[in-house]
Amino acid sequence: MSQHLSEAPESAARTEEGVRAESEIRADWWREAVIYQVYPRSFADGNGDGMGDLPGITVRLPYLRDLGVDAVWLSPFYASPQADAGYDVTDYRAVDPMFGTLTDADDLVREAHALGLRVIVDVVPNHCSDQHEWFKQALREGPGSPLRERFHFRPGRGEHGELPPNDWESIFGGPAWTRTVGPDGTAGEWYLHLFAPEQPDFNWEHRAVHDEFRSVLRFWLDLGIDGFRVDVAHGLVKADGLPDIGHSEQLALLGTAPMPYFDQDGVHEVYRDWRRVLDEYPGDRIAVAEAWTPTIDRAARYLRPDELHQAFNFEYLTTPWDAGELRAVVDRSLRAMGAVGAPATWVLSNHDVTRHATRFGNPPGAGTQLREAGDRELGLRRARAATLLMLALPGSAYLYQGEELGLPDVTDLPDEVRQDPSFFRASGQDGFRDGCRVPIPWSGTEPPYGFGPRPGGPSWLPQPSQWAGLSVEAQTGDPASTLELYRAALALRRSHPALGAGTAVTWLDAPDGVLAFRRDAADGSGVVCAVNLTGAPAALSVPGRMLLRSDAAVSAVSGGHRVEGSFTMGDTIAADTAVWWAV
Ligand code: GLC
Repeated sequence: MSQHLSEAPESAARTEEGVRAESEIRADWWREAVIYQVYPRSFADGNGDGMGDLPGITVRLPYLRDLGVDAVWLSPFYASPQADAGYDVTDYRAVDPMFGTLTDADDLVREAHALGLRVIVDVVPNHCSDQHEWFKQALREGPGSPLRERFHFRPGRGEHGELPPNDWESIFGGPAWTRTVGPDGTAGEWYLHLFAPEQPDFNWEHRAVHDEFRSVLRFWLDLGIDGFRVDVAHGLVKADGLPDIGHSEQLALLGTAPMPYFDQDGVHEVYRDWRRVLDEYPGDRIAVAEAWTPTIDRAARYLRPDELHQAFNFEYLTTPWDAGELRAVVDRSLRAMGAVGAPATWVLSNHDVTRHATRFGNPPGAGTQLREAGDRELGLRRARAATLLMLALPGSAYLYQGEELGLPDVTDLPDEVRQDPSFFRASGQDGFRDGCRVPIPWSGTEPPYGFGPRPGGPSWLPQPSQWAGLSVEAQTGDPASTLELYRAALALRRSHPALGAGTAVTWLDAPDGVLAFRRDAADGSGVVCAVNLTGAPAALSVPGRMLLRSDAAVSAVSGGHRVEGSFTMGDTIAADTAVWWAV
């Protein structure tokens, strides 16, 4: 017997007021934006040196407009020795020569705006590079110098100061402190770095740090950017006195336990201040927090009306392919964000985690740093379904470059080519982030697949020899491709009034392991999204017109997209598949 979808009794009734509020908030672009993360090293290499760059990105912007995203977020392209792929900045107002010039950045922003795309840039306020002028001066001037107060310098513990000042561990492995060595070779104070030793943490108790970052924000806002992605937004303020944690396996606690270096209440003062700066500028300039907090409710505190606009939903990203768990995290997210009037956000991949096409092909609980390819076919099938689920949810969605091509993680990179500092710091136990950073295949049959201008030319990480079929060129116009599925889904999301911004979903009764919910527009139209997360077909019917399904080819028709074939009452929904219907 097929199960007819009806409103689940426990689902919240949608009031007139709720629907009105939903249509009113559409004015704020960021409340429903699809934001595409560009990782500049790996997107497009304009000059053929094997490293992606800003001119390369600019040339490819029409691709992103045609894909149907609203905004682009660029990971750091600032002057940097690249100890952590640009998250170690020496000059926050300069473009690293390997990525281009400030003029190139200006061109990129202008071109994006001309195409109707917004531009978000990374800002890295928790730490800088050990080659930053402030840090070099602080080292030169020695203990007691006021310049050292902009960082966390401390004498060591132990008889001769030979032990780190506290027991904190670096996120990349090893102690979070490194001892300085004076010009005469004698060991001196220690400095704090939550990440690599090349990334000293700023002391946000110091006025100069606040002033500097206000000025950095203004620099990029003046250049016309539309917002910031705030790196390690939860880390700026440390607990008074830098107390010991008393636990030697701190990495295992990350994300679940309160830490004296994360999510301290004082950090919110910084964002209230930043919000005032953003609000000085015309247009909706936004900031999105990278804040790994113990709970979604803690993340929502960064989004109170006078703070930031969005936060990445890492709880969603780390939820396994399980109907119950996904439904719970969707409800939790909507409730927590609704409480502060912020849009929920959804994300499946970024430059720090194994791509979700690979995660979903591995056993649940395997984590986000995988070295196993897993079941490729299953992973891609689930990834396509997960995309339709994500894009049907209310709020804003983040895509990571290459997911629209269904790229798997490159899990078999030889260790000699790896560059992720956490790989080396953790003695190869962790830190497989290079696998999701392999350059994008655009065209052609051999590496670098159009990433750079010359066939056979270099790419900073090697691309697999089987990627020709995954290139943008190979997938364009193929209705069965993942790229065309993304294009169709994004076009529908943009054109259908029930999709995009919103604060609620209406859950519908569905068989075990199947999620089904309805989104309603003020004009009475709606969309139902159903996802079968079980490994077997599920009987299900929806009285509506099918718009899109993740297990079938899409075919463009005038005025929109529709699927090949028909899907009517009494049909089944295949295993690991998502379907959208207009109701
Ligand atoms: C953030 C970035 C990551 C970087 C770290 C240190 O988590 O996303 O790539 O390594 O911060 O800046």
